[in-house]
Amino acid sequence: MSKSILITGGAGFIGSHVVQLFIEKYRDYKIVNLDCLTYAGNLENLKAVENAPNYIFEKVNLLDIDELKRVFEMHKITDVIHLAAESHVDRSISDPLAFVNTNVIGTVNLLNVAKTYWKNLKDHLFYHVSTDEVYGSLDHGGFFTETTPYDPQSPYSASKAASDHFVRAYANTYGLKTVITNCSNNYGPNQFPEKLIPLCIHNIKNDRPLPVYGKGENIRDWLFVVDHARAIDVVFHQGKVGETYNVGGFNEWKNIDIVKLLCRKMDEKLGKEQGTSEKLITYVTDRAGHDMRYAIDASKIQNELGWEPSLQFEEGISKTIDWYLENEEWLNNVTSGDYQKYYQEHYK
Ligand code: NAD
Ligand code: DAU
Repeated sequence: MSKSILITGGAGFIGSHVVQLFIEKYRDYKIVNLDCLTYAGNLENLKAVENAPNYIFEKVNLLDIDELKRVFEMHKITDVIHLAAESHVDRSISDPLAFVNTNVIGTVNLLNVAKTYWKNLKDHLFYHVSTDEVYGSLDHGGFFTETTPYDPQSPYSASKAASDHFVRAYANTYGLKTVITNCSNNYGPNQFPEKLIPLCIHNIKNDRPLPVYGKGENIRDWLFVVDHARAIDVVFHQGKVGETYNVGGFNEWKNIDIVKLLCRKMDEKLGKEQGTSEKLITYVTDRAGHDMRYAIDASKIQNELGWEPSLQFEEGISKTIDWYLENEEWLNNVTSGDYQKYYQEHYK
């Protein structure tokens, strides 16, 4: 095996697409998926590749330093692609400490173990997958670029900003080879139905209210998850060490327009009269500190590395809805147990 890559958070939404892409595209890499399987981690996301000869799963928590050391030693890890995190902004508002633990301390643990295990730091890469939320909130003009100053506004984005800073500090102080990408909102198969798009698909399917925060005027820039995985592949292999690349969909939508689009598409697919699902739209109390707009200028990765999104949004949304409709068992499994409690408490 030419590389032994530790991918953290590989049982989650984006991680599962990255793991699958790397396993299938690079048969000579050993892919070690490290994940502690929180509510957001699900091995069903990896059914297609679970028996691949170049794949290994390690159920390990980032907070368990001895276990991290064991994994590095046992699998002779050559590189890291770090995605494991607490990822949901609303949960960070109700439990910020969980985000400090996993996103900040967990990342520092991983940096420490990598730095200690790797004898010659110049032979290895530590890739941190981060978010555009570290840049704060935009009004109606302008875009986030790689030089936009950090200005995180939620406990989630503050924890991701802190982890980005630690990654850069390890590059500067110890000479660790690092690269960071800051990506916009992802959507697609395997996303836990607490995030806007899968939540609405799930609720439309079950005739439940579609909770829109505030006036629904907030804007996000949406990217199909497989295109994010493709960007990670490109940056991992061709990105310049020490650099940051912004990844985005060039695809801004107001929340309310997305929800209406989902309603129209689902009415069509479920054979309902147009307008039926829109009646489920319910305006609810706004998210505390709700960032107004995110929009990524992805021209650096486009111009320097030749990456661009491959899928038009309407096609991606259509594929996503089909996936959730065809994977009822997946949806039932992830929405049993704790999900109901979270849902009832959050949307009470
Ligand atoms: P996710 O919540 O779907 O998955 C996170 C995964 O990390 C889960 O499998 C979970 O079990 C695992 N995990 C959590 N805590 C852990 C711990 N302490 N030890 C080991 N494993 C742990 O998240 P996602 O949406 O796939 O996001 C993945 C990464 O990409 C995150 O770092 C996130 O900040 C970043 N990101 C996400 C988006 C997005 O739109 N979802 C956009 C940009 C960047
Ligand atoms: O920008 C990248 C970020 O995108 C990632 O770093 C995060 O991990 C990811 O969760 C996502 O954050 P958002 O907060 O933008 O995603 P979410 O799907 O939670 O919300 C999208 C928008 O929809 C946001 O403006 C809040 C709104 N919303 C969300 C939910 C869950 C609603 O109006 N109603 C809802 O019920």
